[in-house]
Parts: sequence; C-alpha cells; structure tokens
Amino acid sequence: MIPVTKPFLPPKEKYQRYLEGIWQRQWLTNMGPLASELEIELKRHLNLKYILFVTNGTIALQMAIKALDLKGEVITTPFSFIATTSTIVWEGCDPVFVDIDPKTLNIDANKIEDAITENTSAILATHVYGNPCDVEHIEKIAKKHNLKVIYDAAHAFDVTINGKSIFEYGDISTCSLHATKLYHSGEGGLITANDPKLLKKMAFIRNFGFNGPESFAELGINGKNSEFHAAMGLANLEYIQSIHEKRKMLTEAYDKALMKFKVVSPLWHSAATKNYAYYPVIFDTEELMHKCIERLKANEIFTRRYFYPSLANTLPYLEKTNLPITDDIAKRVLCLPLYYDLSIEEVELICRLLLRVQNN
Ligand SMILES: Cc1ncc(COP(=O)(O)O)c(C=O)c1O
Repeated sequence: MIPVTKPFLPPKEKYQRYLEGIWQRQWLTNMGPLASELEIELKRHLNLKYILFVTNGTIALQMAIKALDLKGEVITTPFSFIATTSTIVWEGCDPVFVDIDPKTLNIDANKIEDAITENTSAILATHVYGNPCDVEHIEKIAKKHNLKVIYDAAHAFDVTINGKSIFEYGDISTCSLHATKLYHSGEGGLITANDPKLLKKMAFIRNFGFNGPESFAELGINGKNSEFHAAMGLANLEYIQSIHEKRKMLTEAYDKALMKFKVVSPLWHSAATKNYAYYPVIFDTEELMHKCIERLKANEIFTRRYFYPSLANTLPYLEKTNLPITDDIAKRVLCLPLYYDLSIEEVELICRLLLRVQNN
C-alpha cells in the first residue's frame, strides 16, 4: 500500500534520549525546557528573532486573529485547508473570499482591492503547497488600506524569498507542525511575528493570558504544547536536511517520469526556494483525474484531492460564493504520494500507471 503521506519518524533512540530527561525532570508541559529549546533551535534554523511553539496550526491562526484584534471582514482564499476559513469564523469575523490565480493557486492579489470595504480589517492568505503568495503586492495593498496581514504558512516550513524566511512576511505567520507536514512535532504549530510587542502579547494569549501566577494581561487560551511534542520536534530537526534532500529527489523523479503526462504544476514564486512539501498536479479534465485516482486505488496507491472542494461554496455555516477559477481548479487538482520513506521505484510505478491511463 502506498499512502499519500506518511510521517517521518526519527530513530527511536533519538526520541528516547529526550524521554529520559522528561522522566528525570517530571516536567511534562507548560513551557518546559524542551519546548524552550525547540524555540531556540527553530529560531536559529530559520534565522528568525521571534517564534512561539504552540498546540497546532489551527490554534496559531486563532491566536493571530485575536492578537491583531481583528473585527469585521477578513479577505481570504477559498483554496486552502478548512482551518484557514473556520478560524476566521471562530473568532467572530466574516471571511470574504477572493478568487485564486490559476497559475500559482494562491489568492490573486490583483483581485484583493475589489473586495475591500470599510469593514475589512485584514488579509489572511495561504502559501499554498509552500509556494509563497505575491507577498510584495499584498504588502502594498495592506499598507494603502491600513489592513493587517496574516499568512497561513502551514505548508511553508523552510521556504525563503531571496534568502529571507517566508515567516518574516506579513504581521504574523503561522505554521503547522502536524504529523503530515514535512517537518513535524506530531501535533504542533508555530507563530512568528516581527514586532516583539505582538509576540509578547501572543505569549500571554498562549498561556490563558497569565502574566504572573495571580494576574492576567490578555484574554488567553491554552495554546501551549507539551514536552513530548517538543521532543519529537527536536529529534526531527536533526534530520531536516536529509528530509529536504529525499523529497527533492522524489520530486525530480516525478518531474522526469511525468514529462509526457498532460498535467501542469503550480507556478512557483520566482525568487523563492522550494520545500517539496507536496506533489500537486492539475489535470486537463476532471474525468481523466478520476480515472487516474481509480487506477491508482486499484493498485493500493492513494492520492488526495487537496484542496477540494472550494471553501467558498461548501460550508454549512457560510453563504455560498461561486468563484470560477477556484471552482474549476479545485475539481482538477490532485496530490500524489510524497513522503520520506517513498522510493524512486514507487514513484516510477505511480507514473507508469498514470501514463497507462492517459494512453488508453
Ligand atoms: C493550510 C493549512 N492551514 C492550517 C492547518 C491546520 O494545522 P493543524 O492541523 O496543525 O491544526 C493546516 C493543516 O493541515 C493546513 O494545511
């Protein structure tokens, strides 16, 4: 069986070494030494000044919206994971969907200004598959209209633009360290901000708002993460280089084997590095895509329609909006298996099966 993804696991001894310390200290959560160490190591790895390790990428988004005190309408993308939209609603704001760019699959920055009203407070955009949004254009729009910017960078760990971490763009960036992500801590998330005051506010928010044992600075939530998750994050970080190398090799094997296959890949930001987080392909027709899904399934190979359906016209708690490009592309996008343990031979098998469907 070939699943669409599989978590990377470090050698058991690496993880167990961290467990020894946890047992000795008997300090399991509440910003323990491993959680602090992970933040320090991630700051060094990503070349960032500020970072918070939190429960997951969803809480990170909620905390970002709360910290920026967003109200009213938040402009966002319909082509993302549900948490990008649901957190806006959860925090009492109204998502306003803007269609995507058919080439990059990110929010179309050229269409954002048309969606701004006097009630707009922010733009919340996803770097889809780790491919950076048009961050320069979005920044200009945000400045002109005095809007905040949050990037859902759940997929974008380790991506840089001209050498600068993608997490430095916008007022706040969030990331998911869920087990399915290329770098993970089992469950987990990150928040980064350039403004130290904002980061301090989010540190209070992460810990119920406490600013002392008997006093509160903010309305908070439990956004902390445990020592066990921090240990997984620390152990995995030691392997990040080989994770990237393996994923790059697999991606190049797909590219080569699919040269004659009629699909396109999203257009990557020209100044950005790739992190090979996913292998998405856009089919000419939904029909061909379904045939491919079925053929692979018959061989116990599983893919994922990521993201399908459009968030703009499927959620029972929102009015439906039809956005022609998202509606069309979401129907024709498929993510092929990509994970550390996948072999080149398996990639070649997947591609042979796909080509057979096309040629029949
Ligand atoms: C784009 C995007 N945003 C947010 C999330 C939520 O992250 P988490 O699962 O860590 O809560 C995910 C997770 O898959 C995601 O892909």
